[in-house]
Amino acid sequence: MFFKNNIMPLVIGIAVISWGYVIANEADPIETNSTKTITNSKVPYFSEWPAIHSAIPKDPVIETKISSILSLMTLEEKVGQMIQPDLRGVTPQEAKHYKLGSLLNGGGGWPNNNKYASAKDWALESDKYWLALQDAYQGRGFNIPFMWATDAVHGHNNVFKATVFPHNIGLGAANNPDLIYKIGQATALEIAATGLDWTFAPTVATPRDYRWGRVYEGYSEDPEIVYQYAGRMVDGIQGGAKGLAGDSHVISNVKHWVGDGGTQNGVDRGENHYSEDYLRNIHATGYFSGLNAGAQVVMTSFNSWHDEANYDQIKGGGYNKKLHGSKYLVTDVLKQKMGFDGIVVTDWNGQGEVNGCTAANCPAAVNAGNDVFMVTARSDWQAFYHNVIDQVNNGTIPVTRIDDAVTRILRVKLRANLWEKPKPSERALAGQQALLGSEKHRALAREAVSQSLVLLKNKNNILPLAVNQKILIAGSGANNIQKQTGGWSLTWQGNENSIEKDFPGATTMSMALASMVGSENVITQVSEADQDTIAVVVIGEDPYAEMFGDIKANKTLEFSTIKPAYLADLEKIKALKSAGLKVVTIFYSGRPLYVNEEINHSDAFVAAWLPGTEAGGITDVLFNQKGKNFVGRLSYSWPMKKCSTAINRVAPNLVDYQTPETEQDIKGEHKPLFAYGYGLAYGLQSSKVLQTQDLDNIPLDTRDYGCGQSEPDNGMATTSLELFGRNASAEFVARIGGAANNWAGVDVSNGSKTSIEGLTTTPINYKHQQDALNVVFDGKNVGQLYLQTENSSSSDKNAYLNAKATLQFDIRMHKAPEKEVKLAMHCQWPCLGEVKINHILPTVSTQWSTIKLPLSCLAKQGMDYSLLNSAFLIFSAGEMAFDLGEIRFVPQSVDAASDQISCTDLVGMQ
Ligand code: BGC
Ligand code: BGC
Repeated sequence: MFFKNNIMPLVIGIAVISWGYVIANEADPIETNSTKTITNSKVPYFSEWPAIHSAIPKDPVIETKISSILSLMTLEEKVGQMIQPDLRGVTPQEAKHYKLGSLLNGGGGWPNNNKYASAKDWALESDKYWLALQDAYQGRGFNIPFMWATDAVHGHNNVFKATVFPHNIGLGAANNPDLIYKIGQATALEIAATGLDWTFAPTVATPRDYRWGRVYEGYSEDPEIVYQYAGRMVDGIQGGAKGLAGDSHVISNVKHWVGDGGTQNGVDRGENHYSEDYLRNIHATGYFSGLNAGAQVVMTSFNSWHDEANYDQIKGGGYNKKLHGSKYLVTDVLKQKMGFDGIVVTDWNGQGEVNGCTAANCPAAVNAGNDVFMVTARSDWQAFYHNVIDQVNNGTIPVTRIDDAVTRILRVKLRANLWEKPKPSERALAGQQALLGSEKHRALAREAVSQSLVLLKNKNNILPLAVNQKILIAGSGANNIQKQTGGWSLTWQGNENSIEKDFPGATTMSMALASMVGSENVITQVSEADQDTIAVVVIGEDPYAEMFGDIKANKTLEFSTIKPAYLADLEKIKALKSAGLKVVTIFYSGRPLYVNEEINHSDAFVAAWLPGTEAGGITDVLFNQKGKNFVGRLSYSWPMKKCSTAINRVAPNLVDYQTPETEQDIKGEHKPLFAYGYGLAYGLQSSKVLQTQDLDNIPLDTRDYGCGQSEPDNGMATTSLELFGRNASAEFVARIGGAANNWAGVDVSNGSKTSIEGLTTTPINYKHQQDALNVVFDGKNVGQLYLQTENSSSSDKNAYLNAKATLQFDIRMHKAPEKEVKLAMHCQWPCLGEVKINHILPTVSTQWSTIKLPLSCLAKQGMDYSLLNSAFLIFSAGEMAFDLGEIRFVPQSVDAASDQISCTDLVGMQ
């Protein structure tokens, strides 16, 4: 046995966070001065990156074993340990052949692609890889066990029948570190039941801007709760050194290092511009407590960090400061200053985000200090493997870097006692189906739901409800399991799920109400209501996860306008209210949103976040069962204005904190409707209300354009906008892009070719010297040629739409397109307008033609010209070749141009 010590993790034993002000009841929000110093802060100020004192310290026995194994390994064996494919892109035979170290199942990845796989099915699938690797080391004199990683981020959520806990945003509101610890333990047991080794959790982000689609994955906008929770969650999952070596715990992974919650405008994978001091004290505190509790893995983040300290690692310059290429933050800070001795894993092909890299090739990310590479697709990980070996052999990657990575991988595997554990299906808990969604765990989830609810309004103490009254249930969330469970629930985005098939045994709100008052007392029609009937309207966001959940620049935080369908929820509340019913609104959301109107028309309003499968936890509190009261308090400030996007509380550990969103202060949008820590409860005296506001008449924000827009240009353009060619304004630059999300700036002036897999461009002479491009799509890959603003930011070109302009481009065809060709404009992808243009392209000829296309056609297809960032984009997966000359927007040309393409023509061709 390697484990002599059982060192208890350093956890913070504080059960309750004390807020800086009093909690009140009734219809009044509490106004606090957001610059008020919160005394008694539970998070210290870190003037430097602190040294970690891990609950799992270095063990000399393990260290000796690592060196002896390492000394026997070939370079190929070492690199194999560093590769982690996705289950859908690897077979046990390949794992054996390449001697891989681990795999992951990404969101929606299940054994044999079976969504309904049992605990045993998972363990048996895990056996296949485990055995393949045992085989692979035959005759080598040593072996290295295999590991399987999964995203168990709110329970073991990829697994059918597992307990689904509330997402982290709700747990943050519950404000109870002991609860977090218990959820960690329960989740670890369920993971152990499926024979897996490692979970990519907890997320310890401190999300600042509510437009980010991953806000709900973070406990709080404020470091205080994140700091208190991270350590407890890690401890629950891993159980300290002894727990990790045993059968009921698994490896815990804090993510995403670092600053994922602080990107500008809340853009997923975006740019973080915090100073180093704020990065450390706002975005990194969860790592300090999580790593002290012994977390064995840190996942690198997709975002970039724009600071001098994040110096250029990449030869030739131009480093885009992505964390995956940051030697400063990964090696100098995390590994050296903090002394983290476990594994740094990349995020899903995150290395490919470093410029100059692809998923399959990125020595810079190896050199920056990443140890395990989540290279998910078969062709990518195989290429990556060979590339790394070549790069070590030719000196691009030092072998010491490889040895550091493998040392860490072996260390974590030894700490997890993998050499002593039998094959996955034979481990003590493996295959125990009864552990998945056990009564005990579901009761814990239900309790967590109860504790997470935040009561925002309770006019005339309409709540609690009585069990002997009729309830009218309405709203899009009333019987909608997807809205309750949110993203990362059986599937990646949390959609494609139904309660009957995918969450048998789950409870929706209408089911929970029926079991509380009897189904005969739950009605859906106003005509069935009597004078005591209370309407419970359950409303909320559809599920989403990373990338898909961001609120784009042309939208605001206004719930009813984020998606057209959401308006029906507001209308429902208004209709029931005007029919004379008292309305209790339950709001499911992954973030605080602007709901002033919904609140005005509701008698009571409850923020229920993304509670998971146990809506009984909501009715327990609504009906005050067993004395259950509202204990949840906002761990995110609640917006008053449509663009109060980052109105975060002043971080208590930063006395001199200045919000980076100063523009919002100027506009007066910084003032929350409900401050951080707010939450009403039954039985509190109104004398405790600090400030009154009439929650029936919260002023409405009249803004009718997105938070990323300045007031739209209602003017009328009078002159042409030259986009490309000799007279082009410098606003747009030509770029080409390939399949792997890589791109290159097109070289126009010096006459040389620019190539990317997919296509090649060569400058040619049209009206002037080198004012046009010869473009060849090779048909081997998807390729695109586009004109984009320099830093991809938006520019308001509404005036051209208003002026009935056409997009005009000059083109000479050399080789007709073999496949579909699309023309698009982007208003920050995925905001775009796109049409198929094969039938309007000229035939092969030595002559130039001009294509004219009304801007309004693309507007009809979704293009928002007030946010234009790619003015012209042509893409195809097939071969074609043409010359492209001038490109421009020409005002007042729709009617004038008789040769223009009609929209019906284009749209009809979709
Ligand atoms: C997410 C991670 C997740 C990983 C594996 C990534 O895209 O950012 O949070 O752990 O995928 O599914
Ligand atoms: C995959 C998910 C994965 C995600 C990570 C998606 O393409 O289907 O399984 O978690 O990418 O970004």
